[in-house]
Amino acid sequence: MCGIVGYVGEKNSPEVLIDGLKKLEYRGYDSAGIAFFEENEINIIKSRGKLQNLINKINENKKIHSTCGIGHTRWATHGEPSHINSHPHGSKTLAIVHNGIIENYLPLKEELLSKGYNFLSQTDSEVLALLLDYYYEKDPIFAVNKMVEKIKGSYALGIIFRDYPEKIFAVKRDSPLIIGKGKGENFIASDIPAILKYTNKYIILEEGEIAEITKECIRIYNRDNQLIEKEILTATWDENAAEKNGFPHFMLKEIYEEGEILRKTISPYYDGNINFKFQNITDENINSIKKIHIIGCGTAMHAGLIGKNIIEKLCKIPVEVHIASEFRYSETVIDKQDLILAISQSGETADTIAALKKAGDYGCRTIAVVNVLGSSITRISDDVIYTFAGPEISVASTKAYLVQIAIMYLLALKISEIKNLISENEIAENISYMLSLEKKINQILNNSDKIKHFAYDFHGYENLFYIGRGLDYSIAAEASLKLKEISYIHSETYAAGELKHGAISLITKDFPVIALATDENLFDKMLSNIKEIKSRGGKVLLITTENIAKEKLSDRKEDIADYIFQIPETKHLFIPFVAIIPLQLFAYYMAVLRGCDVDKPRNLAKSVTVE
Ligand code: F6R
Repeated sequence: MCGIVGYVGEKNSPEVLIDGLKKLEYRGYDSAGIAFFEENEINIIKSRGKLQNLINKINENKKIHSTCGIGHTRWATHGEPSHINSHPHGSKTLAIVHNGIIENYLPLKEELLSKGYNFLSQTDSEVLALLLDYYYEKDPIFAVNKMVEKIKGSYALGIIFRDYPEKIFAVKRDSPLIIGKGKGENFIASDIPAILKYTNKYIILEEGEIAEITKECIRIYNRDNQLIEKEILTATWDENAAEKNGFPHFMLKEIYEEGEILRKTISPYYDGNINFKFQNITDENINSIKKIHIIGCGTAMHAGLIGKNIIEKLCKIPVEVHIASEFRYSETVIDKQDLILAISQSGETADTIAALKKAGDYGCRTIAVVNVLGSSITRISDDVIYTFAGPEISVASTKAYLVQIAIMYLLALKISEIKNLISENEIAENISYMLSLEKKINQILNNSDKIKHFAYDFHGYENLFYIGRGLDYSIAAEASLKLKEISYIHSETYAAGELKHGAISLITKDFPVIALATDENLFDKMLSNIKEIKSRGGKVLLITTENIAKEKLSDRKEDIADYIFQIPETKHLFIPFVAIIPLQLFAYYMAVLRGCDVDKPRNLAKSVTVE
């Protein structure tokens, strides 16, 4: 969704702002703009489309020198992507950039129109600019407070006032905003990568707090207008982590990091014991869990599907996986003793936040599995387990998924330990097996040419099925999402045995199938389903293990599937860690071959902070 940056210091602000906006491009956007002080006047430059259009416009100007400004990448919600709807919005006295949605903007607009204000754009955000202008009488904090009292919805706002050419003001509710603390310079940003080049120290602005920022000083006021002290956090992500480092796309780089970050996520949580340091959840609480509800969106929800398989198997506790946007309005039966697990890379997904709040209302314990330190979800759950994926820049989630499932396994092992279902030795064996998967992942990555070749043969199709049974079915759900979001090929996941109950009518020579069959016990069943597809002219790419290929396919491989990819032999319980890798690569190469914008697929945003 929209990205916000702000800078005040000694450097030329447009350069710093553009730099920050480039780092936020991954969030998805369709226009961009900056507002900066020049000779004590506010100057606004904005443009539809890619950041380069904005950069070209900035370069058309005489040499700008400005040390304070705000910038924005807009992902259209109210009003089409256009120059006029781009941010910053403003009046003569101020300029704002906004991320979020103002729900009551229409009555506020009416009110402002009746007071003689004119609107240039169709956005909800312009209402904020004019409302601020209305309340502004030389006291920015007063005006911001008045505006906040009137508005409903979500917002992260960066504001500059003409009377204060060396200050940025910021306020937030339900949309992310951090304040970067540098030396003789300070920043605001939607996300950490935007400031990493300059500083790794940051403060998280909480709901309703207002920040007043100069190059030397950061003042934060709470809702009662009192100055408060805030903790300064240190990001452990280095700047390089937010660079492509020679890879053509962030997505490919992030897939290649998966082996390493699997280790980096597991290792800190195992020192002979699984050492989650819960503050609010006791072993007793865990022992009395009746059911686990996993909530998340998209890929995070798919990690929950793997979690369900593993937790039910190892802990004998029923698990239900909920799409967060459905859960928040559902009448799901929840018991106080149920445990809620929320999974989110960004920790800012609006639907997951709302679902988590609803779960809290039932009085259940909540654990969040999150990648971004200090993000909103970490602050509304009873306990947090961090994944250590580092910044994930590509909109399509890959490495975050892998470590989300790693945490599902660790949690399953931990719960089964507390319930006396597993011994210390067995836990140690399982952890060491998980760590050994790094090698197998790298083995697949070294064999990526084979996948490229499959993608070459498949990239012309417009429809595809992914089928599987059991764990393979859950992996297939994620594989299919990856393909459709970045290559724009329509694909669906089907439980292999379900295909014959309807959807098999779609199979023709133009409707191929990717069949995941990595479970020896279910392989014969999968084989029957594959035959059903082949006999209807459907082309099949089979993903299976080396062992199955050797034992069950031996000399008749070609009769069974048109293409076969063999995964290094892996215990079936742990197959998701390795089976997802060729499928992520397949989606990636398909998108590249179709000329798609892999890291920034159309219509998508990295962090979905609106409902
Ligand atoms: C798909 C993808 C999305 C996210 C979803 C949840 O590749 O990235 O489906 O997984 O929007 O985002 P988080 O994990 O940030 O809550």
